[in-house]
Amino acid sequence: MTTQRTLAIVKPDAVAKRVAGQIVTRIENAGFTIVALKLIHMSLDEARGFYIVHRERPFYQSLCEFMTQGPCLLMVLEADNAIQRWRDLMGATDPAKAAPGTIRRDFASSIEANAVHGSDSPESAAVEIPYFFSSLELCPR
Ligand code: CMP
Repeated sequence: MTTQRTLAIVKPDAVAKRVAGQIVTRIENAGFTIVALKLIHMSLDEARGFYIVHRERPFYQSLCEFMTQGPCLLMVLEADNAIQRWRDLMGATDPAKAAPGTIRRDFASSIEANAVHGSDSPESAAVEIPYFFSSLELCPR
């Protein structure tokens, strides 16, 4: 497996609960390299653009408003098979269905306020990473 990058977001609910540091510790302990990291407070337009693939879904407007409630911690993570490994660490989208020991099981409160986001494919990562990070903000090593 070749090295992959994925976009990770600690969502406003988890930042507000002050568990962002615990989530970063889990990421580091799982062996990911943090290639970029920043805190941003998204505008509604930025959230709408980010989740544009969900624009026809009934939860789109509510999800976009939720993402603007407070700052998010954005990261680019690098590892072998990073996309699937970060999804495994997050757990299922719905925290009620997430496995014990996953981030969403431990920190999420609903399917919308589900603590974290991760790219779902290499194609998504290739769109999501440059949506938030310029090449100058990436620190490869
Ligand atoms: P995320 O991994 O960020 O990708 C899309 C987001 O939409 C997802 O996490 C959830 O926060 C949200 N989402 C998915 N399904 C639903 C749903 N049925 N109701 C509300 N929000 C949802």
